Amino acid sequence: MPASDLRLPADFLWGAATASYQVEGAVGEDGRGESIWDRFCATPGKVRGGDSGEVACDFYHRYSQDIELMADLGLDAFRFSIAWPRVLPEGRGAVNQAGLDFYDRLVDALLARGIQPFPTLYHWDLPQALEDEGGWTVRSTAEAFVDYAEAVASRLGDRVTHWTTHNEPSVAAWLGYQLGIHAPGRTSLADSVAAAHHLLLSHGWATDVLRGGLPDARVGIALAILPAYPAGDGDGDLEAARRFDGTANRWFLDPLLRGVYPADALEHLAPVAPPDRPGDLETIARPLDFLGINYYFRQLVRESPDGGEPVFVGDPDAPRTAMGWPVYPDGLFDLLVRLRDEYDPPPIYITENGAAFGDVRGHDGSVHDPERQAYIHDHLAAVARAVEVGAPVRGYFVWSLLDNFEWAEGYSKRFGIVYVDYPTLERVPKSSFGSYRDLIARMRSAAAVPVAGR
Ligand code: FCB
Repeated sequence: MPASDLRLPADFLWGAATASYQVEGAVGEDGRGESIWDRFCATPGKVRGGDSGEVACDFYHRYSQDIELMADLGLDAFRFSIAWPRVLPEGRGAVNQAGLDFYDRLVDALLARGIQPFPTLYHWDLPQALEDEGGWTVRSTAEAFVDYAEAVASRLGDRVTHWTTHNEPSVAAWLGYQLGIHAPGRTSLADSVAAAHHLLLSHGWATDVLRGGLPDARVGIALAILPAYPAGDGDGDLEAARRFDGTANRWFLDPLLRGVYPADALEHLAPVAPPDRPGDLETIARPLDFLGINYYFRQLVRESPDGGEPVFVGDPDAPRTAMGWPVYPDGLFDLLVRLRDEYDPPPIYITENGAAFGDVRGHDGSVHDPERQAYIHDHLAAVARAVEVGAPVRGYFVWSLLDNFEWAEGYSKRFGIVYVDYPTLERVPKSSFGSYRDLIARMRSAAAVPVAGR
């Protein structure tokens, strides 16, 4: 991977990301309660191959070994998420200290290797007990999230500075409550709009609580941005792209960064409206210390022939990943420039970026993944170009450190720079691991040389 063409600031943060349900396993240990993903996986037909996170990568027991891999990479930071049902097995009420003990050990082990812990409070594993009471469609779940945030902060806040409240509220709301593709598998537009609102509201409340208890806390949120591009030149396609962008992206960016829901999207979603009470939007729009951006691909859209929802179109010239997602690094550049121009954003971290490919082990046991090497390099090049024109990007977390449980796709899709042999749980660094390690090292030494214009 040629790193010589990349220029990034000397203090750029190099990271890798995972999420609790996707890697931990140990679902029945140390008092962990049931999550909506345990329930969803146990429901026939929901997850490919009937897979579940029951064992996953067994990170719960093997984290020390994985931290050695992180140290070998030269990571500055590790993004992981905390499982709410480990901390509050029933979603609220008594705190399960044994569950928090795990994260306590994890944070200490990271710090001992000089790696900054970068936790996310919610990466989709809602306690099932709360879903039984309405899940994110009800305000009381947002209230419970505040208790949860408080419990985690009081245990880890002496060592953690950067807190991400939520991962991709858009995916949690739309895929979980409208499309039924993710847990809890509901299929109601009204439910998804309510869920999105309560996810955002809980972010704002938790931000206040974190800042109140931890004066040095830096609080952010990680958004999935799926840039929409018109498939053709006509006004119809342009409008279709704008419409898709409204619900996929601006529905979250605008409340958080401007304190309003986008008017055009409110109109399109009518008669469904968010359960917005006076003061909610003000809470949601608390100034962010950082904005996390998860970027994977762009979406081409075309006007619907019958005036309905925008139609998705394949990207004809782009190579595709194993997810079927087109590879389009320029989309990341465009998105960062757009954020700079339209939102005056706080410091940005790319909290996720990566790709699944059909990795196989060679006769010598190694895994050669040149497509992933190119994917990571080309997206970092897009970040570097955006930084050069003033996008305030401060770091990059590759998704993912490890192959893991890819939600509805089960274990069929491998996103790791480390291959996981699921029968034995052996870790095998792929060639992309080596090139990411080399890139980090070269970027650090290159950053020591001053770059014109910065
Ligand atoms: C993102 C999720 C992450 C992972 C990647 C591939 O939407 O945040 O958990 O599944 O997609």
